[in-house]
Amino acid sequence: MSTSTRSASLLWLAVTGAAAAALMGMSGLSCAQGFPAIGPLPAKKAPNPGQVEMGRRLFFDPRISGDGAISCASCHDPKQGFTRQVDNKGKPQALSDAYPGTSHFRNSPTLINTTYKAGFANAGWGWAGHMGADLNDVVRDMLTETLVMNMDMRLMHERMKQDPVYVKMCQESFKGECSSGKARSALVAFMDTLVSRDAPFDTGKMSDEAKRGRGLFEGKAGCIACHNGPYFSDAEPHNTGVPENMEVFKDPVRHLTYRAAMSNHGVPRTEIWRRDVGYFLASKNYADVGKFITPTLRELKYTAPYMHNGVFSTLAEVVDFYDRGGGRDDPLAAELKPLGLSAEEKKDLIAFLESLSSTAPVTVQPVADIPKEYAPIKNFLGAHN
Ligand code: HEC
Ligand code: HEC
Repeated sequence: MSTSTRSASLLWLAVTGAAAAALMGMSGLSCAQGFPAIGPLPAKKAPNPGQVEMGRRLFFDPRISGDGAISCASCHDPKQGFTRQVDNKGKPQALSDAYPGTSHFRNSPTLINTTYKAGFANAGWGWAGHMGADLNDVVRDMLTETLVMNMDMRLMHERMKQDPVYVKMCQESFKGECSSGKARSALVAFMDTLVSRDAPFDTGKMSDEAKRGRGLFEGKAGCIACHNGPYFSDAEPHNTGVPENMEVFKDPVRHLTYRAAMSNHGVPRTEIWRRDVGYFLASKNYADVGKFITPTLRELKYTAPYMHNGVFSTLAEVVDFYDRGGGRDDPLAAELKPLGLSAEEKKDLIAFLESLSSTAPVTVQPVADIPKEYAPIKNFLGAHN
């Protein structure tokens, strides 16, 4: 939808909000007019099962990181909604781990339904839309970025060729020798399987609370203005004024990692920023500082903490934040204003948000047979792959 249609419909909402709310009760008319309808995600073509299996193995395999210390699952843990909520000691964790020697400045996003971002016309992946034009690209970023897995793609396929399991998988599912391209396709096939299942919103088994919450979501609370369509995102950057997570600036390693990332994206004067520049990373337009791409609202039950920097630990905190009209920034998204929700209405809205999560958590079994140690190769100078 173009910006002008959107602002026109917002204006309509503002002017006729009260009248429309009254009408809604009478005729079932929706205040959500003008925004792409929320609804079940469209079914996707099932990926090749052999490729999915190879992707699952790679996902849990630390050998595809530079120093063999971390796998995709280290930061996107299938037991934690494919994100990280607690560290290895069980302490709540807002900001992601990163490659040994660095610390990340963002919350690790869930991978459930990430395959649906492919339908977005112009938004990239990652909180700020600064990553990848397609999912295959994002996988390459994750593998090669120094702050993520710091892997050399040539080394990666050499390592794969040393594992008879991958050699067989590459032959069977890709009809050829292992390559980094095949590894990336396999990881994409694996992520294609990580989709919501039986969310009450999709199956129509919503509680009365959740149904009332939906009314608020599409009406009085105005969430639909940005969280719309089956993925609950308009794929656009907005500034909602989420407070900074000052850990990024207090922790010297996180700060250095952040500065390096800004520098790699061509952000000027990396030493002066005391905030996450957000979509500015991608656009280099100062009006975009502090904007983030609207994230999906599916699977929130399993993916706390929330926002790009994990500053909110519960949905109640998020709803209170919006009730206050968002955070403080200039310019703040025009769609945000204090909502005046009652305690009852807040509960209903949270019940609706929870109805967008699968009944049972989407997860996968870890791969157990990944070798950790190798016997030395005798006469290695004479040995060939
Ligand atoms: C060291 C931690 C870490 C590792 C390891 C890691 N990721 Fe990530 N991943 C992140 C963080 C943090 C982000 C968000 C980055 C941002 O927005 O700046 C992210 C973002 C993503 C996204 C974008 C999600 C979205 O919806 O926008 C995908 C897809 C992804 N990772 C897949 C993978 C895959 C596949 C692997 C393994 C090859 C992997 N990641 C390894 C931390 C990690
Ligand atoms: C102006 C557009 C806009 C409106 C209106 C809006 N949101 Fe958001 N929402 C966003 C953006 C952008 C983010 C990500 C912000 C960030 O990470 O800093 C977000 C993040 C969230 C998150 C965190 C998701 C996660 O995985 O971390 C939740 C939950 C949420 N919004 C719920 C709501 C609810 C409920 C409403 C209505 C009361 C609402 N939003 C209204 C744009 C909007």
